[in-house]
Amino acid sequence: MDYRFSKISSSIKKSEIRELLSLTRKPGIISFGGGLPDSKLFPTKEITEITEKVLHTKGYLALQYGPTHGEADMISSLIKFMSDFGEKAEHDEICVTSSSQQGLDLVSRLFIDESTPVIMELPSYLGAIQAFRRDMANMIGVKMDFGGMDIGMLEREIEKLEKKKTPPAFIYTIPDFQNPSGITMTLDRRNELVQFAANRGILIIEDSPYRELSFTGEILPSLWTISGGKGVVLLKTFSKMLFPGMRMGWITAEKEIIDKIIMLKQSVDLCTPSFTQLILSEFISRGNMEETIKKAIELYKPKISMMLSELQKNMPEEVVWSKPGGGMFLWLILPEHIDAKEVFYKAIEKNVAYVTGQPFHCDGSGKNTMRLNYSFPSLEGIEKGIKILSEVIKEFICKK
Ligand SMILES: Cc1ncc(COP(=O)(O)O)c(C=O)c1O
Repeated sequence: MDYRFSKISSSIKKSEIRELLSLTRKPGIISFGGGLPDSKLFPTKEITEITEKVLHTKGYLALQYGPTHGEADMISSLIKFMSDFGEKAEHDEICVTSSSQQGLDLVSRLFIDESTPVIMELPSYLGAIQAFRRDMANMIGVKMDFGGMDIGMLEREIEKLEKKKTPPAFIYTIPDFQNPSGITMTLDRRNELVQFAANRGILIIEDSPYRELSFTGEILPSLWTISGGKGVVLLKTFSKMLFPGMRMGWITAEKEIIDKIIMLKQSVDLCTPSFTQLILSEFISRGNMEETIKKAIELYKPKISMMLSELQKNMPEEVVWSKPGGGMFLWLILPEHIDAKEVFYKAIEKNVAYVTGQPFHCDGSGKNTMRLNYSFPSLEGIEKGIKILSEVIKEFICKK
């Protein structure tokens, strides 16, 4: 049959990363590829107890449709959670979502029309690129260094757009322990960015799944906080600091934006499941949340230390990498003439996998980059895998 697919459906591309990762599902592989939390952290016992309690005491709510913006108990728990991490929000500034990917979907639908310019970091989160590409945005990349987005380049790109009378709908950024690079935006740059965007009347979308996973104890103020809650949409999720299986997150923004998000969400899924919201809000109010975050930090800290020390010992000097103070990812930059995809196929032969960096670049650059995940592989896997990867990279450097 000759199906009449929508224009949007033709803007959806197959994910190169998913295809590469499908090659890594062979026994014995050491994978730095995915973005998964270590499942040792999952608090299955506590969730079992809480689930039983929720069904006994609030079954009539848990199995019912709920309000689109979220269950009252959940929103109160989120406000408390945010204040524990130095952030303030009101009830009418929050909408619960089915994790951050839904937050990105809603933001994309709310602000992007065909060819709407949006600004994002080079590299940036692949799921955001996919959502914005689906809505046919004109994605403009701004380079990063190890202190975050290059504000000078941002200003130049925005001036170009303003000259053409096509200002961007928003600046999308992941300031804390970024996916994919592991880079954190410095405090000075956060202040500069918020000031610059406010002066120009440009919205910031702050995507922040990793902020709480700080290995040093240092947590910088969010752009939401620096801006006083004006001109910033903050996307949060429990996927990385707790577990992704419940698909739970939230959007914080001014009421004017939240009201529109709620209307949009009604047409998408009516509401995020009440059942999981009630379980998580109980989990948070029991204090289990802080415990799980603490455990995650304890588990990931030796893993990043191992990765950094093995890189230092084994990588050739032509290779550079980020030194993440938290989160789940490290970014590796090879000499420009080396294609990380060619290295990938060689590494896979030796049972080591990662993801190539190019798909994280909205402008198609970044051929010589790769993302390494350290939250999922074991310590022994990291030690062995980095040695092998270093040997493979050395061969490429010697060859060229
Ligand atoms: C920066 C960023 N935003 C959003 C997401 C989406 O996560 P989820 O939908 O599980 O909340 C991810 C997941 O890897 C991410 O790294």
